[in-house]
Amino acid sequence: MGIKVGLLGLGTVGAGTAAILLSPLGRHPLLAEVKLAWVGVRSLTKPRQVNLPPEILTTDLVQIVRSPEVDIVIEVLGGIEPARSLVLEAIAHGKHIITANKALIARHGDEIYTAANHAGVYVMLEAAVAGGIPIIQPLKQTLGVNRIHTITGIINGTTNYILTRMREEGGDFGDILAEAQKLGYAEADPTADVDGLDAADKISILASLGFGGRIKLEDVYCEGIRSITKTDIAYAEQLGFVIKLLAIASRDKAHPDQFPPRLSVRVHPTLIPQDHPLASINGVYNAVSVVGEPLGQVVFEGPGAGAGATASSVVADLLQVLAVLKIQVAWSQAGVPDTGLGSKISLLHPLLSCAHQEYCEISTMEELETRFYTRFITSDQPGVIGKLGTIFGNHQVSIESIVQKDIHDKDTREAAAEIVVVTHNVAEGNFRAAIEEIRQLPTVQSISSMIRVLEQ
Ligand code: HSE
Repeated sequence: MGIKVGLLGLGTVGAGTAAILLSPLGRHPLLAEVKLAWVGVRSLTKPRQVNLPPEILTTDLVQIVRSPEVDIVIEVLGGIEPARSLVLEAIAHGKHIITANKALIARHGDEIYTAANHAGVYVMLEAAVAGGIPIIQPLKQTLGVNRIHTITGIINGTTNYILTRMREEGGDFGDILAEAQKLGYAEADPTADVDGLDAADKISILASLGFGGRIKLEDVYCEGIRSITKTDIAYAEQLGFVIKLLAIASRDKAHPDQFPPRLSVRVHPTLIPQDHPLASINGVYNAVSVVGEPLGQVVFEGPGAGAGATASSVVADLLQVLAVLKIQVAWSQAGVPDTGLGSKISLLHPLLSCAHQEYCEISTMEELETRFYTRFITSDQPGVIGKLGTIFGNHQVSIESIVQKDIHDKDTREAAAEIVVVTHNVAEGNFRAAIEEIRQLPTVQSISSMIRVLEQ
């Protein structure tokens, strides 16, 4: 059997994918049955990282997705258009889709999966989240018997790299970002990464698969790392924490039987205890922790980006679809009759396809029960800590630890106090109400930072 593949895009991931397909020896034997039929590119003359027969390169991407010679389309263009139109056109022509495009799936997954289920084709996306780490198929298959409680990930390598270097070198965000851009670890426009948008796309996909309902991206709370300072990183260290940009999806414990479950889905910098498994994930590495019942916790870690790592996930999806198609071909060659069990959708392998259509209800951030780290600059006067304590108490905020350091106002040189508070679990709405009242105190000069602490 020869399965013909059309590859859309020959950038970093596309070239990595082609490189694997061109050297199948020593990999799974099924890969030898794949033929790279077409590769769609923007320019035929651009130098490439991989040697391909020139006759399979074309700038006509629409022709690839309509071609009767193509069984599976791999979309590694990135971005929304023309990727969305090409994927929908390929589905309409009965092609299975493999994509690394988290932005596309997070925004248009409902449209794409509805079309795919109707057409009876697969849309596979292992490469869309956490690069080379196998997390999509485990969530769909091996972990599927568990009632998932939380999915917590470091799923953006750029921000993890920046935070790691800020911690190791005591550097400022702006300086480290500029250097990361120079070294190619951060994009010229770093917005999607440093503002948490890339991680929000990815956690919406993981939550949807782990909890069995669709997620509206606009419901995902998103806060990036621009406001993290070396001072907060140093205080966190003293208190036994590290600061990571976490993407978290958790089941609302107050509604345990709702299906699809009510969730909290969010991206924000978080203080995590130094002995937490995610605390030691450094540099551009990614990791995802899944906690479920009855399994408990599993942690997946590895390279979250890069040509080879992401291509490994792309081709893993190809292998899965290939295996199913091989069985279908064998059945039809053996003359297995149509059982008449229903529409084409019932022919899709239920552990590879994604049939859920209901949306998960997402709780508000005010409802979130979490701990907080916060840093105040206040006048150095008697009674300041007492007033903070009273206001926190009035709003049911319980203090877990408090540290005070004498400093001098950098402009006036007057004595001031830097006060760092870590709270116990509290409803975020209550904490914010307390902070608003504290902000009005004449002795409080500024509230320099408020960072969530991983809940106990
Ligand atoms: N920009 C992403 C990151 C890699 O920094 O992790 C691609 O998903």
